Amino acid sequence: MSALRFWLPLVALQLTACTCQYRYGPERSWDLRSTAELKSKEFWFHDAQRTLYEKLSTPPNQYRAKNVIFFLGDGMSVPTVTAGRIFDGQLRGVVGERNQLEFEKFNYVGLSKTYCVNKQVADSACTASAYLSGIKANYLTIGVTADVELNDCPAARNPQNRLSSIAEWALKGGKSAGLVTTTRVTHASPAGVYAHTSNRDFESDYDVTNLGQNPGNCPDIAQQLIDGGVGSRLRVVMGGGTIKFLPNSTTDVYGNTGQRLDGRNLIEEWQQSKPGNARVLFNRTDLLNTDPQDTDFLLGLFNSSHLAYHLDDSVDTPTLAEMTSTAIKVLSRDPNGYFLFVEGGRIDHAHHETKAKKALDETVQFSEAVRKARQLTNPWDTLIVVSADHGHTVTISGYPDVNNSIVGLNSELSNVDQLPYTAISYANGPDYDRFYKSTDGEVERVDLRTLDFTDRDAIYPHGVPMTEETHGGGDVAVYAHGPWSHLFTGVYEQSTLPYMMGFASCLGPGITYCDLQPKPVYRA
Ligand SMILES: *[C@@H]1O[C@H](CO)[C@@H](O)[C@H](O)[C@H]1NC(C)=O
Ligand SMILES: *[C@@H]1O[C@H](CO)[C@@H](O)[C@H](O)[C@H]1NC(C)=O
Ligand SMILES: *[C@@H]1O[C@H](CO)[C@@H](O)[C@H](O)[C@H]1NC(C)=O
Ligand SMILES: *[C@@H]1O[C@H](CO)[C@@H](O)[C@H](O)[C@H]1NC(C)=O
Ligand SMILES: [Zn+2]
Repeated sequence: MSALRFWLPLVALQLTACTCQYRYGPERSWDLRSTAELKSKEFWFHDAQRTLYEKLSTPPNQYRAKNVIFFLGDGMSVPTVTAGRIFDGQLRGVVGERNQLEFEKFNYVGLSKTYCVNKQVADSACTASAYLSGIKANYLTIGVTADVELNDCPAARNPQNRLSSIAEWALKGGKSAGLVTTTRVTHASPAGVYAHTSNRDFESDYDVTNLGQNPGNCPDIAQQLIDGGVGSRLRVVMGGGTIKFLPNSTTDVYGNTGQRLDGRNLIEEWQQSKPGNARVLFNRTDLLNTDPQDTDFLLGLFNSSHLAYHLDDSVDTPTLAEMTSTAIKVLSRDPNGYFLFVEGGRIDHAHHETKAKKALDETVQFSEAVRKARQLTNPWDTLIVVSADHGHTVTISGYPDVNNSIVGLNSELSNVDQLPYTAISYANGPDYDRFYKSTDGEVERVDLRTLDFTDRDAIYPHGVPMTEETHGGGDVAVYAHGPWSHLFTGVYEQSTLPYMMGFASCLGPGITYCDLQPKPVYRA
């Protein structure tokens, strides 16, 4: 009851929509290709007024969310979003600085604190526990409490240490659930939807054995996807990673040998265990030819490992938007609604290699998937939340001119060594010798004009030498649209996210919209 009293002021606070018209019209159409407009006083005034009027005419949406879609850009730090927006605009011939990615159009934005129980800078495993199960945990563990240390298999099996994800809350609430990713479906972020493990690398029983543990004590992640309480009930699973599901005596459709030691073919088992029309797909053509209305369950595995980068243009690989579209159409068949997890998983991988162009292109692809989801859903019954698990060390630095190529050299030279530097660089990363040379005991920077930054695989400069670039510890942004999206403002722990999504959709162990008495009334 005290919890309900706590919510009463919120119920009483009914913001009324401003029906005022944009007063400074007639609305001029501005030319997004022009940098000249930026010099005009009128431009900035109109831009600000239009933003303000849009906010004033958008009342908080206090309906109940039937569906929740959570989009995770893995490693999509705030500078990644900024650079991604500029990159996208520059490719489309508009002034990149003025461009907006799809989720940047959302009305409500907050910041999520990403640290884990034992690390200031987090990984994708412990953060998955936070943003999917609402409890922070140890680095490299998934779906278990902080009482489980890395590799502690018995502790991970103890029911008391197991966390329940929002996908499980959705299934318990009579809804459907699904996941889509560009990584292996057994990789850390998607595993947070359905798995409980003391090590994110236990993707197959071979991995468990190889890491010195006994698969009998330590069920691997692929197996949990097929047999587990949540995994076995997911209606849609799309991504990569066939080899984690196939015995080492077989090869997959791409010609790669399976990894499993237990002789199980988990793909066949998945198909045989499902009632109704359960489809297994291995390529884009099959995905585009699939009728979602005639599909009860869908397992799409489009690569032996992670999906190819979008820039590598593999014709057989579906885009994240294509997978998201089919996932929404299949899940929408459930009249009770659904929870869908969508991951742009390779933004992170490209950053680790300091391949900035690929990281930005994957960010744009992620934005396209959000656009598709908005087209296919209704903001009055579908909450869309977009965020990242952790940041990266990428930065946009120096004082490049407006319309400087975001993936090119900075228009300015260093005022110390008089050599050029790139607009984008990293705090650390691989291939140190590419960027620094030693002359007479002095370390000097290589002249970047001798390197090719037009290539899609160009690697970008960094400070500290590492085998791969690391994550960053900065807060990440949370963008929300739809029912109760106004809850997502402010600065809060990442572990708050599932409770806010659960509140909007009446799911999970915390307070929800369905507990509110009286119900808030939306007044247009
Ligand atoms: C921005 O830069 C691109 C590439 O250099 C150039 O083609 C375009 O004309 C520039 N736009 C403006 C408005 O300066
Ligand atoms: C395949 O798995 C079996 C156990 O089922 C194992 O004995 C064998 O060494 C594995 N083969 C390879 C090539 O790893
Ligand atoms: C796609 O997969 C199906 C089997 O699932 C196969 O028959 C077809 O040849 C594949 N298409 C391509 C282009 O690889
Ligand atoms: C699978 O991914 C690899 C590595 O990115 C890529 O070379 C290969 O073309 C991909 N295979 C398919 C079928 O897309
Ligand atoms: Zn990550």
